[in-house]
Amino acid sequence: MLSWDDYEDDSTVVEAKPAAPAAPVKTEIKPQAPATPKISVPEVTAPVQQAPAKMAAPVSANDVVTQAKETLKNIDVTPGLEELEMGARRIQVDEKAMINCRVDLNQLVPFKYDWAWQKYLDGCANHWMPQEVNMTADVAVWKSADGLTDDERTIVMRSLGYFSTADSLVANNLVLAVYRLITNPECRQYLLRQAFEEAIHTHAYQYCVESLSMDEGEVFNMYREIPSIAAKASWSLKHTHSICDPTFNTGTPETDQELLRNLIAFYVVTEGIFFYCGFTQILSMGRRNKMTGVAEQFQYILRDESMHLNFGIDVINQIKLENPHLWTSEFQQEITQMVIEGTELEINFAKESMPRGVLGMNAAMMEEYLQFISNRRMVQIGLAEQYPGAENPFPWMSEIMDLRKEKNFFETRVIEYQTGGALNWE
Ligand SMILES: [Fe+2]
Ligand SMILES: [Fe+2]
Repeated sequence: MLSWDDYEDDSTVVEAKPAAPAAPVKTEIKPQAPATPKISVPEVTAPVQQAPAKMAAPVSANDVVTQAKETLKNIDVTPGLEELEMGARRIQVDEKAMINCRVDLNQLVPFKYDWAWQKYLDGCANHWMPQEVNMTADVAVWKSADGLTDDERTIVMRSLGYFSTADSLVANNLVLAVYRLITNPECRQYLLRQAFEEAIHTHAYQYCVESLSMDEGEVFNMYREIPSIAAKASWSLKHTHSICDPTFNTGTPETDQELLRNLIAFYVVTEGIFFYCGFTQILSMGRRNKMTGVAEQFQYILRDESMHLNFGIDVINQIKLENPHLWTSEFQQEITQMVIEGTELEINFAKESMPRGVLGMNAAMMEEYLQFISNRRMVQIGLAEQYPGAENPFPWMSEIMDLRKEKNFFETRVIEYQTGGALNWE
């Protein structure tokens, strides 16, 4: 295991000799300290590099320093930062806006959206890493011939198959499209946190696949090989194409609506509906004391995802509030249809991954649960419920989402899992 001493070990540093030192340099050679174990550094034998036929004359170190100083003397602070205006008056909080904001985006404060900053802090307080979850029991159950039924194994494989690539799709959409178009620094701060959490989730799925010695090619290709998974993935991808185009910009009603479509497709449908059949199946397995390590990973992921969803809904509603002209009745109808499409794709995934009753649930119960979730999503963004009367057949899912209790749901860890970000210094 690495320790901080290893990083301070001078013997691992290979110092480059200056080509032509202007003055003699006094080099202190520290003696080796063999008492402490060192990282063994293999002797580096530099490959002999063939000099190109035509090469510019080498610039001496002194010339480079002189050139650098000259460049800095003449630096112009504006190129590359079009909005940077020297001596401009300071930013007023009212000038900040969720989209199409023209003021300096490099200044985090004053906050306009305190909720975004609070979510960033809450996300940091909930930090966790996949390797901290013990997978020993899962390995034994997965490898045992009678540890799980075939239907239960299908559920584990399908969930990992969908999620292992879905979180990458979400991360790519955030980093390559959404981040640039949300013009508010406190929201961008949360987006950066969310992007890292998506990386942790993909890591968690990879860690499960590796721990259980699954066929990684089979799992990571399901989004191209299993029809119900491919349908969900391609539906999400369809809604990222236009805004991923580097020439895309908001600023007209049409392009602002396109950004809203994307946010609803990813936050409300992908993270708010597409994740819920798999989460429910795996968490139900954990409640039955099977695959508790995988279930614990999913529990932490669900906690993160609940916050992503709530953040996204706040952003969507704020954009609506600041730009009421975008929320036309035609657009509302289009969004309603998008949410229904997502719900039906998830119901289809439930049917395909659960051909028979398993783990105290079946496809019909899951269908009603997804309709119940879909109704909630509609209401959260100010639209009418489309599945009247749908009820929640899995009330334990609401309980499992709340980790703020002394023991976690599967009793695999006996402390509340939050990091120092939540400490009170008083
Ligand atoms: Fe995620
Ligand atoms: Fe997420």
